[in-house]
Amino acid sequence: IQKETKLNTGAIMPLIGLGTWKSNPGEVEIAVEIALKNGYRHVDTATAYSNEKEVGIGLKASGVPREEIFLTTKLNNIDHRDVPGALNKSLELLGTSYVDLYLMHWPAPMTPDWKADKSLSWIDTWKEMEKVYLAHPEKVKAIGISNVSVAFLEDLLKVATVIPAVNQVERHPSCIQDDVLDACTRAGIVVTAYSPLGSDKSPLLENDIVVRIAKKYDIAPANVLVSLQVNTPNVNVLPKSVTPERIIANLKVVDLTEEEIAELKTIEKTSHFRACPPGWTGWGNLGFPDC
Ligand code: A2P
Repeated sequence: IQKETKLNTGAIMPLIGLGTWKSNPGEVEIAVEIALKNGYRHVDTATAYSNEKEVGIGLKASGVPREEIFLTTKLNNIDHRDVPGALNKSLELLGTSYVDLYLMHWPAPMTPDWKADKSLSWIDTWKEMEKVYLAHPEKVKAIGISNVSVAFLEDLLKVATVIPAVNQVERHPSCIQDDVLDACTRAGIVVTAYSPLGSDKSPLLENDIVVRIAKKYDIAPANVLVSLQVNTPNVNVLPKSVTPERIIANLKVVDLTEEEIAELKTIEKTSHFRACPPGWTGWGNLGFPDC
């Protein structure tokens, strides 16, 4: 297990963060509060999750000082035209003066009715994010990207003056994306794994290989899946839960052997799925690998 992940800004990003995609208002406040009261120091949200206000309530309710928490939120696809405005709105909803990390949620600018906005380029949006970051270090401690494939990353690196600190992508044994990880590692970009359990009703929790390794260590299948990520250099992880016992349990990780890691990665060959596939109507091929 790594000790921590260090960003190219020098900041430390805790290995395990609470994911909040699909965590609804009414349940996410308590999830965030319980997580922080039980040792989490990293919380991930997004404007698109429609829960920033409630995440902010949970942060405050925990009593944990803001500066001890690593907080991430994301620019919504429909907000590429106004990065500073979108950031200010997020800060207001979260009830905080800064985020530790501001990610472009998808390299996919969209119109208010969620169609591909072909009049905008996500690379230009990145340039806007760079501007906000350089002009307002008191509001944004680091900037990054999400759901960015190797081909897209290569395009970005040709023009970026600020190298993204993080690329947050789906990563679990049925969608490993090691090509993305390798490209990010070469560029000094940390990878954050979302949906590490395979999201809702995940077959991974019943997978024979996962269950066998779980039995060996006397842990739950979910712990094997979280462990896989934190045993991978340059990767940190965001298990999502709104269930108090699971939130606490998901912090338990073990050292897996090289053989176990390799075996877990074979799952993708027979059980391949992606919990959050790109596919914007009218957008065409985004260039993501078929993962
Ligand atoms: P819930 O939030 O109701 O507890 P992922 O992190 O891959 O997106 O997976 C999230 C899904 O996995 C949610 O449905 C969540 O349910 C469930 N989950 C989270 N932790 C565990 C766990 N320890 N055991 C089983 N299921 C879990």
